[in-house]
Amino acid sequence: MAGLRWPPEDSDLHHARVPSTADLISDDDRSVAADSWSIKSDYGSTLDDEQRHVDASDVLSTIASFRAASDYSSDKEAPDVDVEPSMLGLQSYWDATYADELANFHEHGHSGEVWFGSDVMETVATWTKSLCINVSQGHIDNLIDNVSSEPDSELVLNELSTWNVLDIGTGNGLLLHELAKLGFRDLTGTDYSEGAIGLARNLAERDGFTGINFEVDDVLATKLAGRFKLVMDKGTLDAIGLHPDGPIKRIMYWESISNLVAPGGILVITSCNSTKDELVQEVESFNQRSISTSSEVEAVKDQEVQKDLPPFQYLSHVRTYPTFMFGGSEGSRVVTVAFLRN
Ligand SMILES: C[S@@+](CC[C@H](N)C(=O)[O-])C[C@H]1O[C@@H](n2cnc3c(N)ncnc32)[C@H](O)[C@@H]1O
Repeated sequence: MAGLRWPPEDSDLHHARVPSTADLISDDDRSVAADSWSIKSDYGSTLDDEQRHVDASDVLSTIASFRAASDYSSDKEAPDVDVEPSMLGLQSYWDATYADELANFHEHGHSGEVWFGSDVMETVATWTKSLCINVSQGHIDNLIDNVSSEPDSELVLNELSTWNVLDIGTGNGLLLHELAKLGFRDLTGTDYSEGAIGLARNLAERDGFTGINFEVDDVLATKLAGRFKLVMDKGTLDAIGLHPDGPIKRIMYWESISNLVAPGGILVITSCNSTKDELVQEVESFNQRSISTSSEVEAVKDQEVQKDLPPFQYLSHVRTYPTFMFGGSEGSRVVTVAFLRN
């Protein structure tokens, strides 16, 4: 991918950080690019988007005032508000990137960037397959980390074919190729960049994965009607969090994702900008917001408060990524965490 490397290959940093928007573009460019979030393309209603944005801002300011008023500082109630915005949070950046990658594909047959590298992509795919088999077989409390190297039984292949898969922010769609090779059959990839979807369709056709469905869709204003048993996110929440309104966009993300994952289904997030604990904490915050909102609705309806199940529950995370010590604590550059949708 042109210019930027994310995460940097030889960094000592626990979190991979990228140059800020202020470093990379002028104020004019930035406001034009940021405007592209409110002046939506033909698949998004501006009014709906504005309302969603206002709702998320309200939630964020409630959280911010709660945090300011509270002297209990060890619990993180919201994603870091100090994450530096970056070009990678802007759709204009991705549109330009995929225009280049598409041109490269047509000229040289290149597939484009594999975010976090091929090893991580393969690990994410095999680990996710193992997780789905475990969940299909009811082993939620006793998960086994690695899939067997034995050829898959018909039973396993049948189980995998019942998982409809959505990869949000699919980019070139190569993660879906990996999942197809492992036996998943019902595969959809979405991205808000038309160039990404163009590249993904070309690559799938070239490499014989013609059964994969690719669609242009903004996950924060999704037009997808169905729900998916497996939703994959590799680097997309990271990108969303790098928008100048990153904290608000992250709140919108969880609202949207909770409608995309089917009950009993799984969300698998791979990130280089959040630790596993930060992602778990972010989900906890979303759960608390959802439960209090649904309790308020129930209280008005029935004059009594009912306790709901939290929308998401932590399931597992990849333990096999290489780790390193930094500042006295151990970490890895990339995390992959799975959450179960209740
Ligand atoms: C870091 S790249 C990862 C691409 C791909 N998942 C991979 O692992 O190779 C982030 C992707 O998220 C997409 N993206 C960012 N915000 C999005 C949004 N709101 N809706 C849909 N796609 C989005 C970008 O266009 C880009 O393809």
